[in-house]
Amino acid sequence: MTPTGCIRRARRSGAEPVAQRLAVIADCHGNADALRAVLADIDREGAARIYNLGDHASGPLAARETLSLLRGRGDMLSIRGNHDRYLLGDPARMGPSDAVARAQLGTAELDWLAALPATAREGAVHLCHGVPTSDLRYWMQAVTPAGQVVQRPLAEVAGEIPAGEAAEVHLCGHSHLPGSLQVPQGSLIVNPGSVGLPAYDDHQPVPHVVENGDPAARYALIERGAAGWVVSHRRVPYDPSRMVALARRHGREDWAHALATGWFPRPPAGQRARSHPAGGATGP
Ligand SMILES: [Fe+2]
Repeated sequence: MTPTGCIRRARRSGAEPVAQRLAVIADCHGNADALRAVLADIDREGAARIYNLGDHASGPLAARETLSLLRGRGDMLSIRGNHDRYLLGDPARMGPSDAVARAQLGTAELDWLAALPATAREGAVHLCHGVPTSDLRYWMQAVTPAGQVVQRPLAEVAGEIPAGEAAEVHLCGHSHLPGSLQVPQGSLIVNPGSVGLPAYDDHQPVPHVVENGDPAARYALIERGAAGWVVSHRRVPYDPSRMVALARRHGREDWAHALATGWFPRPPAGQRARSHPAGGATGP
């Protein structure tokens, strides 16, 4: 672990020193085992800083353990996601996934969540959870009226950058879909994908499913190269069996299937799909 403020220059065997390699994680969703595997990979690769884009704990998994891992990193800058906001609300009104996580958290964890900013800027890097003005919308994807998740038109994507925001790299999460996109202004938008939840369904703005088709944890490494920012999307396999068992213990076969396979389970014909496994505040 890199101490606070210490910028480490990583050297891999036979390679030139790498300055300012930065790690980006998002959407841990209480999956402590995926997070542990990702942090170990980051430590092997070497990074001066870890940027953490929110939705840390929500889910029927290991919320307290996940927050303990995150809070123990002095080299991490964290912001909050929509589910971190939900966890600070009235427990009686929470969705089922938020409620399981909330029951595991004490004052120290809730105070930590409450202190997180919605966005952050450090050097050339700008952090948000969804888009800069909202933690509820995808930045690079649109959802069609039929519920298909598609690439959002470039002009819309570029238009989300606030006037005067001159960051070279914009980091976002929320969609759980890894990707990078350069906008006409010249800056780069990077989504590292989700550490802890590779598939889910949601009912906003219309019912839809997001699936990576891969149970591995995801994160990204970014570093400024001579010709621009180099982005490495990392796929980190880990053993999901303990998290799958926790999901089942809380009656969440949808989460168990998503964690084990990377796909969201399809209900038998004639049955209505269950709501977002991340269990938003508006979900049942
Ligand atoms: Fe989110």
